[in-house]
Amino acid sequence: MKVAASMLCADFARLQEEATALEAASADWLHFDVMDGHFVPNLTHGPLPLAALRPHTELFFDAHLMVEHPESYLEEFADAGAQCVTIHLEATRAPHRCLKAIRALGVHPGVALCPATPAAALQHLLDEIDLILVMTVDPGFAGQSFLSAVLPKIGELREMIARSKRDIWLEVDGGINARTAEASLQAGAEVLVSGSWLFGHEGGYAAAIRELRDSEAASLLGRLPDTDDPRPN
Ligand code: DX5
Ligand code: ZN
Repeated sequence: MKVAASMLCADFARLQEEATALEAASADWLHFDVMDGHFVPNLTHGPLPLAALRPHTELFFDAHLMVEHPESYLEEFADAGAQCVTIHLEATRAPHRCLKAIRALGVHPGVALCPATPAAALQHLLDEIDLILVMTVDPGFAGQSFLSAVLPKIGELREMIARSKRDIWLEVDGGINARTAEASLQAGAEVLVSGSWLFGHEGGYAAAIRELRDSEAASLLGRLPDTDDPRPN
C-alpha cells in the first residue's frame, strides 16, 4: 500500500520543508488537489507548486485535477513534474482522448469518480488508465467525513481491475484516517490519500503514516476466516 499526503493541508508558506518532512516520515506520494471554482466550489492552485517543489524531493507527484476542461492543462502539469495526472470522469465529454493525451506526455493517466458515479462508468476506460481514484467525499474541500456508503464500490472496482488483468492503482481520497483506511484497504484500495488527519496528527507525520501502514495489517486480519467458526471441517 502507498500513502499519498494531500498537500492541500500543508503549510503553503513552508511547502519545501513540508515535502522534506513528509519524505523523512516515509510518505510515498505527494497528492496535489487542483480546483478551479467551477467543477468544485473551491479554488486552489495550478501547476506552480509542483514545479517549485520538483527539484527538492524524490516523492512521486500525484495530480488530482478537479477542473472542467482538463484537456487544456495536461501539458502544464506534465511539464511541472506530475507523474500521474488524474481527471474526473464527470468533468470531460472525451475521456478517452484526454487519457491518451496524458499517456502521450509520458505520464500515468488516472480517472477519478465522485461518490455518485457508479463503478461501471469507467469499464470502457480500463485499457487506458493506470490509476482509479475513488472519492469518499464530494470533491471540493478537505476535512469532510468519509462516506462509508462508497465502500462497496471500492470492492467492485477491485474486481473489475482483477478481471482486466491490468496493473491499475486503486486510490481512495476523502476523510481518510486510521479507521477509514482499514475499511478502505479491506475493500480493496491500495493508495490512501490523507489530508486533515495526517497533517493534524498530534504525534507528527511519521506517527500518522505508521498508523496508516498498521491499518493494512489490521485489514488483512479482517480478511482471515474466523478461527472461532463453529462449522465442522
Ligand atoms: C477533496 C480532495 C482530497 C482532500 C483530502 O476534494 O480531493 O484530497 O482534500 O483531505 P482530507 O483527508 O481532509 O479529506
Ligand atoms: Zn484529492
